[in-house]
Amino acid sequence: MSDTMKAVVLTRFGGPDAFEIQTRPVPSVGARQVRVRVHATAINPLDYQIRRGDYPDSVPLPAVIGHDVSGVVESVGADVTEFAPGDEVYYTPKIFGDAGSYAEVHVADVDLVSRKPRNLSHVEAASLTLVGGTVWEAFVTRAGLRVGETILIHGGAGGVGTIAIQIAKAIGARVITTARSDNHEFVRALGADDVVDYAATDYVDAVNALTGGRGVDVVFDTVGGDTLTRSPLVLAPFGRVVSIVDIAAPQNLIEAWGRNASYHFVFTRQNRGKLDELTKLVERGLVRPVVGAVLPLERLGEGHEILEAGSRRGLRGKVVVDVAGEAETLVPPLAAAA
Ligand SMILES: NC(=O)c1ccc[n+]([C@@H]2O[C@H](COP(=O)([O-])OP(=O)(O)OC[C@H]3O[C@@H](n4cnc5c(N)ncnc54)[C@H](OP(=O)(O)O)[C@@H]3O)[C@@H](O)[C@H]2O)c1
Repeated sequence: MSDTMKAVVLTRFGGPDAFEIQTRPVPSVGARQVRVRVHATAINPLDYQIRRGDYPDSVPLPAVIGHDVSGVVESVGADVTEFAPGDEVYYTPKIFGDAGSYAEVHVADVDLVSRKPRNLSHVEAASLTLVGGTVWEAFVTRAGLRVGETILIHGGAGGVGTIAIQIAKAIGARVITTARSDNHEFVRALGADDVVDYAATDYVDAVNALTGGRGVDVVFDTVGGDTLTRSPLVLAPFGRVVSIVDIAAPQNLIEAWGRNASYHFVFTRQNRGKLDELTKLVERGLVRPVVGAVLPLERLGEGHEILEAGSRRGLRGKVVVDVAGEAETLVPPLAAAA
């Protein structure tokens, strides 16, 4: 086993060309840690936010970032009983403070690590950990979404939204989502009951019409700005709002007060438990990964460009990095931005 690995290192804050491929020593394994051969990782908006310099105090440079791993355990620490070499695992590395997953090898605290769903490839599994864990935390741990309730999911065609639609349906909720018109068929195929074209329609009017003026029980905000500030206007009495994005604009909560609303702000925490639950839904076929683009490690910067361009480059769902070279299809080099 080699004691060096390839890693994609962020050497400065800037554009997608701020990464460099470097050879680094393979990290050592602590007593309650596992060392994992990374077969695939994925790209999240958090990664390009870090790359462009939104979190300089939390990410000292040079840094290996990345927040999804699917891979195979290579070695375990002295006090690990949960996993053994050869086990297939998936997880989100600790966000801020530890090395990320843009590398051939990653070391993680064992309590973060979950068994990979048996019916998924590594590319598919890597697409799920951060977004799936976040949705689980938002719907199950925080909002308590229940059978028969109605939820509005903002941004249904995105990395988080595509999984949110499926988990909400698996829970038994009615799903209204927002997406551009060319994504409507796609989000309906994921299970959305009703779709609102956020680019052409006022979502407040549309959702109130779809619910006969009652409003929804839960709003899930994956966008921020208007989608958070105006969410009380589509909320039923005692409704809940869950937001996973920065609260950029000042909020006037008078409408929320009148509806006895509850607010939940989620910055996802990493742990095995919620991935174990997600795995059950995946293995029962209730949640399937949505992979929009796959690239090799050497083209990781291009993956950032694709994610940042979103639907302007036809992206639906996640951008995945095929570290081990196992995927059958990779996306071709990018065309010029639309
Ligand atoms: N707090 C946490 O723990 C946590 C965890 C995961 C993600 N996040 C955050 O959640 C956000 C979404 O993440 P993601 O992975 O889903 O990103 P993504 O894959 O880029 O998807 C964003 C989606 O939002 C859509 N959208 C943009 N403007 C919209 C609007 N006004 N109304 C409705 N939809 C709109 C986009 O559609 P178009 O492509 O058509 O523009 C796209 O489908 C990011 O800001 C990310 O940092 C937070």
